[in-house]
Amino acid sequence: MEVLYFVERRLNQARIKHLTSLAGKFPEFRVTQNPQDATLWVAQESNCDEVIDFLVKKKKISGNTIAENKKLVDISWFIGCMKEKKLMDIQPSQLLKRKVDADDGPSTKKSRYSGDEAEEHALFRGDANAEARALAFRRGSATLKAHPKEIVCEEDLKNLPYIGLTNSAKAGHCKMVAMEILSEGFSDEVEDVLNGSFYKSMKLFTGIFGIGPQTARKWYHDLGMRTLEDVKGKNISLTYEQSLGMEHYDDLNTPIKLEEAECIIKMVEKACNEVCDELTMTLVGGFRRGKSQGHDLDLLISHPEDGKEKGKLVLIIEKLKEHFIYTGRKMDVSNNLNKGNFASSTMDNFEKCFSIFKFNKSWLNSNLEGKAEWKAVRLDLIVVPSHQFAYALLGWTGTKHFEREIRRYARTEMKIVLTSHGMHSLDTKQNFPAETEEEIFQKLQLEYRAPSERCC
Ligand code: UTP
Ligand code: MN
Repeated sequence: MEVLYFVERRLNQARIKHLTSLAGKFPEFRVTQNPQDATLWVAQESNCDEVIDFLVKKKKISGNTIAENKKLVDISWFIGCMKEKKLMDIQPSQLLKRKVDADDGPSTKKSRYSGDEAEEHALFRGDANAEARALAFRRGSATLKAHPKEIVCEEDLKNLPYIGLTNSAKAGHCKMVAMEILSEGFSDEVEDVLNGSFYKSMKLFTGIFGIGPQTARKWYHDLGMRTLEDVKGKNISLTYEQSLGMEHYDDLNTPIKLEEAECIIKMVEKACNEVCDELTMTLVGGFRRGKSQGHDLDLLISHPEDGKEKGKLVLIIEKLKEHFIYTGRKMDVSNNLNKGNFASSTMDNFEKCFSIFKFNKSWLNSNLEGKAEWKAVRLDLIVVPSHQFAYALLGWTGTKHFEREIRRYARTEMKIVLTSHGMHSLDTKQNFPAETEEEIFQKLQLEYRAPSERCC
């Protein structure tokens, strides 16, 4: 008999209640509310130090009662027991790791579920149904995230858009997965996806700067590649961007923190000012929505007078050149393309620079002074003419899901084509200029939503 204590960190009350009732069906388990009484502490996405810190903070244990006679296990072990309907041996990989910076192995991730991952997996698959399936998961997931109350039973799903209020088969699947998680505490399908070889390899490969799902799929299916070692070993030819992606893989897959972003923002702002004191620089992307970290830093550069922004990007890059590892520039191609006719909803024609920036860690901490320790960071600079600024601001603030949905709404409900460049009537082609994001919302007869409310 094992006495289990579910650690409340990253497990909400509803889930614990549910896990407790699952455990109650087996004579092999007893669940306690008191960590001192337990033989096993069961935690999700946590390592030992995090669990102990958490319990000390919650005054569940005192700092010096360190868990000597306790085993700290990942929730994947418990889920395994529930699946097999018996007490399973604890695998070494299911014991929580000691160090704070323990490598983020599969054991700590196993039972985490989010619609984003289901969406990602559908996109990775890339077959005929993938887009529609991914969209169904994205919508379902956004609905669940935006829901003000916790979903605890099937009834709660009933009136939700894209989940309960639809007859679409794909949304039905989304609902089925959600219900499975509600009733079983886990979903076999999601567990299989997250632990599956395809998902893991695709996640690894698409984490390489310059590699999209298409190449990643080819590597997986045609070349039988599975790991980053395979990428290094197989003697495959990489583009310059991709080889940089490999070289800086860990850095580029480590989130950028807000304080690091603020530091780069100051430097770019200074460079802009030196090039021309009327240039403006505006933070967009996840950081504008109030996120405390991001995969890259996105900045819009503009000039109050239309046209005067032209040619400035090269000069800004030149000012910062010692800090760049890579500057991939994309020219303004608005003359070659019909406005609004983009291959994907997020593509636009602005002149921009997708760069890799060398962030010197000593900029944050004066103690590190002199040490040339740095980290590679993705920085995007986008040059925007003044009359398109409000649209670019809206288009680059995200989330991607929000952009997709507001554009779809504009087109289907208002017969208006909305892009990062502007907005025009689908029928008459009449253009709608706007100075601010508020005006764009107004024109679309939508209530204004602050960046932080755009489905973070
Ligand atoms: P990001 O991919 O940078 O996402 O795109 P994010 O929301 O900032 O989140 P992080 O970086 O992963 O933390 C930001 C916004 O810019 C648009 C996207 O649609 C998104 O809304 N975007 C991105 C474009 O319009 N064009 C692009 O080429 C890239
Ligand atoms: Mn971003």
